[in-house]
Amino acid sequence: MKSYLVSGAGSGIGRAIALKIASTDPSHRVFLLGRNRDRLLSVQRELPRSEQHEVLIADLSEPKGLNGAILDARLDECNLVSIVANAGVGGENHYGPNDRWNEIIETNLSGTYRFIQECLPALRSSQEKHRSIVMVSSILARIGVPGYSAYCASKAGLLGLTRSLAAELAAEKILANAICPGWVETEMALAGLHEFAKNGLHPFSEVREAEMAKVPLGKMSKPEEIAELVYFLIGGSQDSITGQTFDINNGALMA
Ligand SMILES: NC(=O)c1ccc[n+]([C@@H]2O[C@H](COP(=O)([O-])OP(=O)(O)OC[C@H]3O[C@@H](n4cnc5c(N)ncnc54)[C@H](OP(=O)(O)O)[C@@H]3O)[C@@H](O)[C@H]2O)c1
Repeated sequence: MKSYLVSGAGSGIGRAIALKIASTDPSHRVFLLGRNRDRLLSVQRELPRSEQHEVLIADLSEPKGLNGAILDARLDECNLVSIVANAGVGGENHYGPNDRWNEIIETNLSGTYRFIQECLPALRSSQEKHRSIVMVSSILARIGVPGYSAYCASKAGLLGLTRSLAAELAAEKILANAICPGWVETEMALAGLHEFAKNGLHPFSEVREAEMAKVPLGKMSKPEEIAELVYFLIGGSQDSITGQTFDINNGALMA
């Protein structure tokens, strides 16, 4: 049995990654991590052989709780072969008393760093040939959006973290890569569009249409497409890609 740990697995992209891993091979076990137990259990029930998989309740921004949850799961005894750091929060931040800077950086950047570091001993203890880490960054690591300074900074930080971990872990043959999705049809993307609509006082449908008009392929990606890319990186079909960042954005940014 090989174990895969996916953060933010109770919805959107994380759910799709968990489904992809569990449905690809009956010997795959998925640990689904997040804060919302009901949503994680609901995804667990969707997975083939649901009893084989496990739910871990933890908040990435709370070091003590995260450490406890990882220790309780005894991942070091579970042949952990991959860590998918997908959890994150979106939305705006504005300097002042209600600035969300700390919340967003603490979750997306410091939380991802902490999550990976807490799980690394377990990843190292696996004897499998293919071991890997994937971080879910964003197109906003590469382009600026007004009002999104914390989100953009957190996601850009993940790219530096990816390269640094790739260099650190290369001697142990552990791969570390990042992906940068553009718009993906999930709760987070819809919440972002609602925020744009509210700020600009335009109807949601108009804002969505205007945003899609800026994307060469004129659409959002499906979470399942992101899961396919992640699985390519972690599934063991290659052991040559490390320290890289993959864009999947319908042509919204051509680098
Ligand atoms: N959708 C897009 O257009 C898009 C584009 C580029 C990048 N991304 C990135 O893709 C990733 C997944 O986002 P999504 O679109 O699938 O949105 P989503 O459905 O809102 O998923 C985010 C997940 O992160 C988890 N999470 C948030 N804060 C957490 C915390 N402090 N501790 C533990 N888990 C936490 C949430 O679970 P709980 O509430 O259960 O904790 C949730 O399942 C995010 O990192 C996001 O930044 C999304």
